[in-house]
Amino acid sequence: MTRRIPFLLLCIFFNLTAVLFSLSYGGDTLTPTQPLLDIPEATLISEGGTFVLGFFSPVGSRNRYVGIWFSNVSLQTVVWVANRNRPIPDGSGLLSLNTNGRLVVSDNNSVVLWSSSSPALASPVLQLLDNGNLVVREAGDVGSSRYAWQSFDFPTDTLLPGMKLGWNLTSRHNRNLTAWASISDPAEGNYSFGIDLRGDPQIFSWVGTQQQFRHGPWNGLYLSGVPEMMPYDVLEFSFVIDGEQVVFSYSVRDPSLIRRMVINPTSGYIEGLLWTKGISQSWSTRITMPGDTCDSTISLCGPYGVCYPNDWPRCNCLPGFHPRNPNDWRLVLNTSGGCVRNTELDCHNNTDGFMRQSNVKLPDTSASTVDWSMASLDDCQISCLRNCSCTAYARANISGSGRGCILWFTPLTDIKLFGSGSGQDLFVRVADVDLKAMESSGHQSRRVVIIVVSSVATLTFLTLVACCIWKWKKTENYSKDETGEEAINLPLFDFATIVHATDNFSSSNKLGEGGFGPVYKGRLKEQEIAVKRLSKTSEQGSNEFKNEVVSIAELQHRNLVRLLGYCIEARERMLIYEYMPNGSLDKFLFDKVRARSLDWKSRYNIIIGIARGLLYLHHDSRLRIIHRDLKASNILLDEDMNPKISDFGLAKIFDGNEIIGRTKRVVGTFGYMSPEYVKNGVYSMKSDIFSFGVLMLEIITGKKNIGFYISTEHLNLLEHIWTLWKEDRVLEAIDESIGPFCVAEVLKCINIGLLCVQEQLEDRPTMASIVSFWGNETTQLLNPKRPGFVVPTDPSETNLDNCKYCPISSNHLSITILEGR
Ligand SMILES: *[C@@H]1O[C@H](CO)[C@@H](O)[C@H](O)[C@H]1NC(C)=O
Ligand SMILES: *[C@@H]1O[C@H](CO)[C@@H](O)[C@H](O)[C@H]1NC(C)=O
Ligand SMILES: *[C@@H]1O[C@H](CO)[C@@H](O)[C@H](O)[C@H]1NC(C)=O
Ligand SMILES: *[C@@H]1O[C@H](CO)[C@@H](O)[C@H](O)[C@H]1NC(C)=O
Repeated sequence: MTRRIPFLLLCIFFNLTAVLFSLSYGGDTLTPTQPLLDIPEATLISEGGTFVLGFFSPVGSRNRYVGIWFSNVSLQTVVWVANRNRPIPDGSGLLSLNTNGRLVVSDNNSVVLWSSSSPALASPVLQLLDNGNLVVREAGDVGSSRYAWQSFDFPTDTLLPGMKLGWNLTSRHNRNLTAWASISDPAEGNYSFGIDLRGDPQIFSWVGTQQQFRHGPWNGLYLSGVPEMMPYDVLEFSFVIDGEQVVFSYSVRDPSLIRRMVINPTSGYIEGLLWTKGISQSWSTRITMPGDTCDSTISLCGPYGVCYPNDWPRCNCLPGFHPRNPNDWRLVLNTSGGCVRNTELDCHNNTDGFMRQSNVKLPDTSASTVDWSMASLDDCQISCLRNCSCTAYARANISGSGRGCILWFTPLTDIKLFGSGSGQDLFVRVADVDLKAMESSGHQSRRVVIIVVSSVATLTFLTLVACCIWKWKKTENYSKDETGEEAINLPLFDFATIVHATDNFSSSNKLGEGGFGPVYKGRLKEQEIAVKRLSKTSEQGSNEFKNEVVSIAELQHRNLVRLLGYCIEARERMLIYEYMPNGSLDKFLFDKVRARSLDWKSRYNIIIGIARGLLYLHHDSRLRIIHRDLKASNILLDEDMNPKISDFGLAKIFDGNEIIGRTKRVVGTFGYMSPEYVKNGVYSMKSDIFSFGVLMLEIITGKKNIGFYISTEHLNLLEHIWTLWKEDRVLEAIDESIGPFCVAEVLKCINIGLLCVQEQLEDRPTMASIVSFWGNETTQLLNPKRPGFVVPTDPSETNLDNCKYCPISSNHLSITILEGR
């Protein structure tokens, strides 16, 4: 008797492994007689080979979990975990399906660590589907979509295409995502992502039980706060609201693309990711939610305030409103008090009107009501006017000709303004007097715009004429010496290839607008690219184009963005670059949320990288190159946050001993241009040094040079830092999101920065000496002299005091000056 027991156990073990060996050859189902042991061969593989189910340990952990991961992604990427909160400490785990269809994860003592509900089936079978769904069904129900249980109803941290996030209103079952506790622990962490049903349902990110970021209601095309979700050829997001459910999901048109949405366990951000095959095998981020600080639920700008994601100051009042507490607003200390009406509403006399605010992310809809029966916006307006507590209305669904109406009955909070072409219209109720005032001031500002536009147009015209004459002379010279055109040593792409690579320049692929035209993201075979398409009308652009091709084609440095090729066809001119997944430095630096991911170490690394790139341009490359437009938005960041200098459209090439140039056409970005360049058109390597100094100080303080505004005494950041430097309090200027830093390193950088921005160009150091300052611990740095302050001649341009409502353009102090001297 006692001898028989071990024998029996051995027997069972052998039988099991025999079963398991047969399973490992591509089987996708499991029946109650075939439990899965924690041995390498024991996995389920979905029919098309896309997903695998089995036991795994996360990176940096020895605990064992049952999970599902992609089979053809070389980095093990787990999309679902069964026993996330109760790991198996050793290799003794067992996954089994019991006879009535309950799925169980247990350890060697038969302690149940996780189990599904018990659907009471007659002959249950477990199957891993090719979309990543793990289902329990009756064995006879092959191919049917009736499942007794499915993992898609119990998501962990990942939303796969076809999975639903949100509510079944009948069963009140809610599917939300909850982040892993850390990358080595799948247990439920602090961050979650899901749908809030109040008012017009919205998607939020939570930290614990607190809402942290609001991504907004669905407007028929995208989540109001995430215009990147606009439908396009590759991906389609959807949001269903009906009597039975409120759910968000997405689908991928091209099944060969491997996509997932996941909560980052460290930041709590939602990331839409795509697996890039080929050499650079990695997950690349396509969508990040939140997009910026303005998505935070801590209402930054308060009631009736508007948040400008890429601007400083960040908050403004809606037209017809002014700050409740003007002092707090002026000092940009605390804007959360929000704004109040210039004139109270006059509901009972029925004179109120509506102000249209375009390009917004809709205000919080938690307390709004939606009426789907309203066909036209006029009905919507009438209905809002009829109720004295109605504060605003908007289209509930903007797809097609639009339908439905959202009405707000509370102060409007959490409005964000996108750039033109994004966002939707919001109609805000204001008193008649204010509406009239807005109309007349609107006319006034239009007049100013017309004057400015026409004088710029005249200048442009004169410049064009001058250029044509110059070009004509130049072509004469060229015909004698053809080599100028032939020297380009780069692949030439044909137009059709680029059209295909960028989905016909689809708006969803647009990365931004550069100085000379839009930039698109594209894909050439396995490689991601950025395509700069020069505006067809810009003759100037065409010269810049050749300039850029010639100057950058020869350059090879890890801190310069790499040009892969170019395209010339009819009037199309395009430059094809390597794609930089993290975008430009300004998107991080001047955004409170993203700035947090730039600690001192990475900022230091960025500063040093830019310095190396610039050293190469000034001294090391075959040619001497002056960039002339160095600024935060021209520094791109690769996946490891290494900086690369981009945009050589204005670069000047020097050969021989010429080191100072002069131009009649001063082009660049205010705040980065050196005084001698703005005043006299004189540029040299020292003008790049000036820009580099400004950039360095911006990186340390997280503030824009111009547009930075503390009080009337300081017109720009340089002046502010200079004042603090003289008073020995310069550490006060450091960005609070920088985290721990080495004081000596930071002080050295500020000192070098101030040396770079000195007024006299002879005083500024060269790139070679700057790099040697870093290399040499013992160098005694000079005390900087007064910086060159470049301020607009008309002080009203920077004085935001007299400006109750500043339209977005008046805040944009990054301008290009065309000077026809
Ligand atoms: C909601 O749940 C009920 C009960 O589980 C189910 O019968 C129904 O099909 C579900 N509805 C949707 C839309 O999934
Ligand atoms: C997410 O879902 C779980 C399970 O349904 C629930 O306990 C939790 O409260 C939800 N979290 C949020 C923020 O809705
Ligand atoms: C309505 O208009 C009349 C005159 O036009 C004015 O005297 C009165 O104060 C207004 N009522 C309200 C509530 O503002
Ligand atoms: C105005 O709308 C609010 C919210 O829907 C409602 O509670 C209130 O009764 C309405 N007032 C009138 C006069 O219809």
